[in-house]
Parts: sequence; C-alpha cells; structure tokens
Amino acid sequence: MTLLDRPRTTGPVPVVTPERVAVRPAEVQAWVTEQAALLEPADIVWVTGSTSERHELLQLLVANGTIEQLNPELRPYSFIARSAESDVARLESRTFICTDDPADAGPTNNWREPAAMRAELDGVFRGAMRGRTMYVVPFAMGPIGSPMARFGVQVTDSPYVVVSIGTMTRMGDAALEAIARGASWVPAVHSVGAPLAPGQEDVPWPCNDTKYIVHFPETREIWSYGSAYGGNAILAKKAYALRIASVMAREEGWLAEHMLLIKVTSPEGRSYHFAAAFPSACGKTNMAMMTPNLPGWTVETIGDDIAWLWIGADGRLRAINPEAGFFGVAPGTGLRTNPTAVSALWGNTIFTNVATTPEGDVWWEGLTDEKPARLTDWRGEEWTPASGRPAAHPNSRFTVSARQCPSIAEDWDDPEGVVIDAIIFGGRRASNVPLVVEARDWDHGVFMGATIASEQTAAAEGTVGELRRDPFAMLPFAGYNMADYFAHWLDFGRRLRRSARVPRVFQVNWFRKGADGSFLWPGFGDNARVLEWMVKRIDGQVGAIDSPIGSLPTAGGLNVEGVEVDEAALEELFRVDPEAFLAEADDAERFFASFGDRLPAELQRQLTLLRGRLEAA
Ligand code: GDP
Ligand code: PGA
Ligand code: MN
Ligand code: MN
Repeated sequence: MTLLDRPRTTGPVPVVTPERVAVRPAEVQAWVTEQAALLEPADIVWVTGSTSERHELLQLLVANGTIEQLNPELRPYSFIARSAESDVARLESRTFICTDDPADAGPTNNWREPAAMRAELDGVFRGAMRGRTMYVVPFAMGPIGSPMARFGVQVTDSPYVVVSIGTMTRMGDAALEAIARGASWVPAVHSVGAPLAPGQEDVPWPCNDTKYIVHFPETREIWSYGSAYGGNAILAKKAYALRIASVMAREEGWLAEHMLLIKVTSPEGRSYHFAAAFPSACGKTNMAMMTPNLPGWTVETIGDDIAWLWIGADGRLRAINPEAGFFGVAPGTGLRTNPTAVSALWGNTIFTNVATTPEGDVWWEGLTDEKPARLTDWRGEEWTPASGRPAAHPNSRFTVSARQCPSIAEDWDDPEGVVIDAIIFGGRRASNVPLVVEARDWDHGVFMGATIASEQTAAAEGTVGELRRDPFAMLPFAGYNMADYFAHWLDFGRRLRRSARVPRVFQVNWFRKGADGSFLWPGFGDNARVLEWMVKRIDGQVGAIDSPIGSLPTAGGLNVEGVEVDEAALEELFRVDPEAFLAEADDAERFFASFGDRLPAELQRQLTLLRGRLEAA
C-alpha cells in the first residue's frame, strides 16, 4: 500500500525492491489482533522492510513535519528530526522490571508487581493509537541464520520509530519468515501515547508527558509508552537486546552486554578482537570507529553498543553485534576526533536534535573547531555563537546503517561471531582511575567490572557529572538481580577456564583531568596506544608493575612517542593513590551490601584482598 499518493523526493532515487508476499504466522496475527483491540488504531500496516516502504515512510514523516529533508547536495537523502523538549534521552526513573519476586529484579532496578503493572498499563494503553496507524514491525537481532539470532515483533504508532528500527535491526519479511519457520519471538508494544480525535491536527513530535518503559522478563514482554526517543522506543535495542536478552542469556548460558566490538590489527598483520563496556556517552562509538594515531595499526568496527557473547564449540569466547546500525552521540564527533563516523554520515542518515545551517546541512558542538556564524538550534530557534547555549542537544544523535561505516570489518556480521581476546571496562572518571590497568585474572576482572563508577552524562535523565556506580556499564540494562549477574560472570569464567582460553580483562579511563580541569590524555586515536599495550600483554611481550589495583605499564611500557602529553601529565595518568582507593573500597562495600547475601562471596573476597594490598602499599 502507499502511504502518500505520490512520494516526492529531492534526494537520489532509491532502488525499489518488489513487494514480497509476507507470511503471517498465526501466532503473530492473533497477537496483533489482540493489540489492535486494546490500542484501537485507525489502520494496521505490516512492515516488510523494503526500500520503497522506507521511502514512503520518510515522505510521510516529512509531510507530518516530524523530519525535514537536509540539502541533498550537501547531505544526500538525509533528514533532521527535532523532538519535543521532554523527549531527548532515556528515562531510567520510568524504566521498570516486573517480576513475581522483587528480589529477582534486584535493588538496582525499579521493580513493580506484574499484575499491578498490567492493570496500570491496560488503562494507559487503552485506545492509545486512536486516529493513528499501527505498524507491525518484525525484526531480527543478529544475523538471520546465526545460532545467536533472536526475533521479535514490535507494534508502534510512530513512523519515526519504524524507520529507526529499519536502520538498527534486520527488519521486515526475512524476520517474519524465520518466525513462521518456528523461531520464538518477543512481543513489544509501543505507543507515543497521543491518540488523535477525529479532525484533530497532529503535532510534529507526538509524545506524552507520562512515560513507561516496562519489561516482564518472566513472560518476555516489553511495553513502552509516551516516548519516541530511540533508547525508549526502539524496543529491539536496550529493552530487548539488553534487558530481556540478559535474562535469556543467564538461563541459556551466554552474555548480553553493553559493549562495543572491534578488530585490531598490528603492523605485523596479527588480529585481535576486543569487547569493551563503557556507560552511555562514555566513548563506545568513538572507540569502535577509531582511527589509530599509531602507524601500521588498524581498528575495524564490528559493533558500537551491544554485544552478545557465548562460549563456542571450540571453548573460546565468541561475540556478535546483534544490531545493524549505529545510534550515535553527535556532539564531540568531528573530523579531528572521529573522521570515520563523520564520513559514515555522508548521507542516508537521520539526525535527531542536532542544529542546522542556513545551507540546509547539520552542525553540532565539536563537528568543526570553528562555530558557524548562524544556525537553527535543536529547538528550531535562531542561534549564533553569542547565544550562550549549545546549538545541538548534548544527547543529539545520528542513526545510520552499519554498512555505511568505512571501518566496518568484513566479518562484522559473521553468523559465528568473532573470538574475543580481551574484555575492557571503563567509565568517565575525572580522578583516581588510571589510564589503563590489567586485572590479575578473570575473577579480579569481574570485581573490576562490578565496581565501575562513572560520571553521569546527558544520555539519560539525572545530574550530568554526578558519580554513580554503573557495574559493567549495565546499571540501566540488567534485566535481573545484579548480584546474580555478577555470579553469572564468575560462572562464565569457570566455564572458560575449563578450555584454558580465558580472555584478558582490562580497565581504562580516557577522562582523567588535571588540576586545571582539562583532560590529561588526548584520547580518541591515541587510545590505540593503550590497545597496543594490551596486545603486547596478550602476547606476553611486556612486563607490568604489580600495583594494588592491578597491573600497570612499566616506565616506557606505553608507547607515547609523538603524543601531546608531558611527563607530569603522564605520571598523573597512572598515579594510584592508596588512600583514595581505600575510600573507593568503602563505597564499593556499601554498594555490595545493598545486595545482601545474594552477593557472590568471591566479590567480597576480592574486596578484602584489594584492601589488604592497598593497606600494605
Ligand atoms: P558512547 O555513547 O559510549 O558510544 O560514547 P561516544 O563514543 O558517542 O562518546 C560520547 C562522548 O564522549 C562524545 O562527546 C565523545 O566526543 C566523547 N569521547 C569519546 N571518546 C573520548 C576520548 O577518548 N576522550 C575524550 N576526552 N572524550 C571522548
Ligand atoms: P550509547 O547508546 O551507549 O551510545 O550512549 C545509547 C544509550 O545507552 O542510551
Ligand atoms: Mn548504549
Ligand atoms: Mn554509542
């Protein structure tokens, strides 16, 4: 069906794929009928994933005023969306995990009793899609055909969300066919919560001040209401691939993690794969697309936000990126910091809450060193450098296909995944935490992951800069009790040890600041130097200093040739203050205590060992 009579385009004419006749599995059909009775949409459209369908949806969004097409000469077939002011980030306070026993959600999640939440949601969702089209969106996470691929069907009344799912997942008929062949699937219901009365005019960004992002891990269901922001509305991503998948992973013996995946190749031509967990807006996308500032080294992208890891038949830790696109932070992404991302965004990109230039292109803080003289800011208001406010929202985003990334690895979508050589944990820490430190062994690595703290960012609501515990960068994403999650990681190590191929574990911090408040380490491409040191550790080519918190590079161990960092800064980057770490240990103790006797004894033991080493230092 056509959504508009004649799609108009000023961009390049897309390839039109012939409509395929979709199979409609009876179980999905029955669920859709049930949802339609609840949501009362004016119309139902089954999304096929074809190029012509995407084109029609984009034209519809333009007609609705949700998106505007950018100048096709400057940014081919690309669009800008300006959201409602209240709908710019993930909402952790409105994210719920509903389990029969509150202890199964654990102290770090917002728990609600399932029956009570169901009753509440029934009231909220009843008639929520009146006057709107309900899109039925089948999707696959992971390459279809991979033993790791998982499926879902989302209904949504937001065409913006449909095109976003189209970029971020393998969406449409192929996923529905897999479900028809018997693959299990997770149902996900999404509404912007803005029903239209007959004749009522729509707004460009429909949403509701009341928001819910609700998970029922025991019955594997997702319900999201009131927001069209990616992290709240693309339910395949955070809600499924992390929160629900983490529960599946625990039961089935694998891991669903908030991690980037990269392939690193040395000048000798040897390749290594890394998985790295940093909290939201702490450098995953940038590291995933790094241009090494180190001759002879290459970094290729496999994933930038989510990794699913399992132990392969060969006993080795393997990983896939379940997504198909990148939903990246725009500010700070510039030619100097991340030329790869900048070139990935040449066209076919949807930008949300960035600023626009008078010529019809995009701009955000950090894209260029010099600020344009005149812009339209993310709210749609006139902006000049004298305005004294950011032109782009600090959590403005780009949504782009993984295939468009020039650094994408050839085997990024290998159904068998890649073998992981090392795991990295990180966070945003102005003080204390050194540039890099290696865990003594897997269990110490789990302790490191469990005790990560990071300064909050604009990616979620809350006070930017405030330090909080964010174990494994999974605080907002673990769908079950975090203490059980720690135990699952410890158990994973025991299973890996049986095959004697245990990956190394490291902790990094690109964000340590000097007395003047500026970053001590140049970061970005120079982070390749840290990767080089890790590779040398993996290959047993360099020794290390045995510090109380783990192994540090020896003097001269880190290659800093040609880096803009002086001796004093370098010393500060690696300074470990036992007093400060004893205070951190006290804080970790309080955090651990919140889990009661569900906390694995091994973590308490690691804490005691750490204290002992710090006191002896
Ligand atoms: P993600 O949300 O974890 O994927 O983080 P991004 O890679 O999108 O980065 C979030 C913000 O941190 C952006 O503004 C980046 O410019 C900034 N950033 C990323 N890597 C570094 C780094 O190595 N050093 C510094 N100083 N900033 C960084
Ligand atoms: P990020 O992804 O980790 O790239 O910020 C979105 C999020 O975590 O909300
Ligand atoms: Mn993320
Ligand atoms: Mn990212």
